[in-house]
Amino acid sequence: MEIKGKYAVITGGAGGIGLETAKLYFKEGAEGVAIVDFSQEGLQEAKSQLMGQNALFIQADVSKSEDVKRFIDESMEVFGRIDILFLNAGVEGVVKSMVDYPEDKFDQVIGVNVKGVWLGMKHGFPALKKGGGGSVIITSSVAGLRGTAQVSAYVASKHATIGLMRTGALEGAPDNIRVNSIHPSPVDNRMMRSLEEGFSPGSGDQVKEGFTKMIPLGRYAENGDIAEMALFLASDRSRFVTGATMVVDGGFTA
Ligand SMILES: NC(=O)c1ccc[n+]([C@@H]2O[C@H](COP(=O)([O-])OP(=O)(O)OC[C@H]3O[C@@H](n4cnc5c(N)ncnc54)[C@H](O)[C@@H]3O)[C@@H](O)[C@H]2O)c1
Repeated sequence: MEIKGKYAVITGGAGGIGLETAKLYFKEGAEGVAIVDFSQEGLQEAKSQLMGQNALFIQADVSKSEDVKRFIDESMEVFGRIDILFLNAGVEGVVKSMVDYPEDKFDQVIGVNVKGVWLGMKHGFPALKKGGGGSVIITSSVAGLRGTAQVSAYVASKHATIGLMRTGALEGAPDNIRVNSIHPSPVDNRMMRSLEEGFSPGSGDQVKEGFTKMIPLGRYAENGDIAEMALFLASDRSRFVTGATMVVDGGFTA
């Protein structure tokens, strides 16, 4: 019971990493979890998987200020406090060289992955402060630590979240708000299937094989591997950890 009695909000909560984290949070004693996602279909599926739990399901676009304010306000109204804010929603964009990358796609990736995180802290900090502080967790990527050809918007967005995380750690510390980021290597879920297909249409399997060879522990991460780090950062075990880039990558960047 690592987070007994705590309340959490998870954006991208209907996705691979988000939903697995919600399940782990409940298992570890969370009193309530708000699942925030853009996908109505995803939220329906999350609802069926979290049946019987004290979960809130909120449809929202994290890149829109009014939506972010709304899900923070609704969570506060229902739960009375927010202890854990997991800013995890993200999009991969497309796989194309910078020369061919569509500008509207670039704007979308930056809007969700960067502005979404900024808005999360902008509207979330006052709520966490009311409860005496808390933990903000941002899902970046190994793409925030090194370049990868053909995914410029994604790489730029995940580097940018480190700047937001570090600034958030400094601005949140006086109010006992910790801010950290998680940097997963490829995770065996929808997003990687989409990227594998983008890198080599029709032969995504070979791309997966290639990536796997670059991971010293010899496999992709599971959603649960990332959820474990999101649990550690949410719990009081990480009470002196803030401003940190937590790499969960099987040795990929070693
Ligand atoms: N899958 C990987 O290999 C991998 C590796 C490193 C980092 N990440 C990051 O992990 C996070 C979670 O991704 P995932 O792997 O679970 O993939 P996913 O696609 O299963 O989950 C992402 C979720 O975010 C939601 N979302 C997208 N745009 C949104 C918006 N504007 N507002 C609200 N919700 C929105 C999607 O509907 C989806 O449910 C992302 O930030 C991603 O960039 C993923």
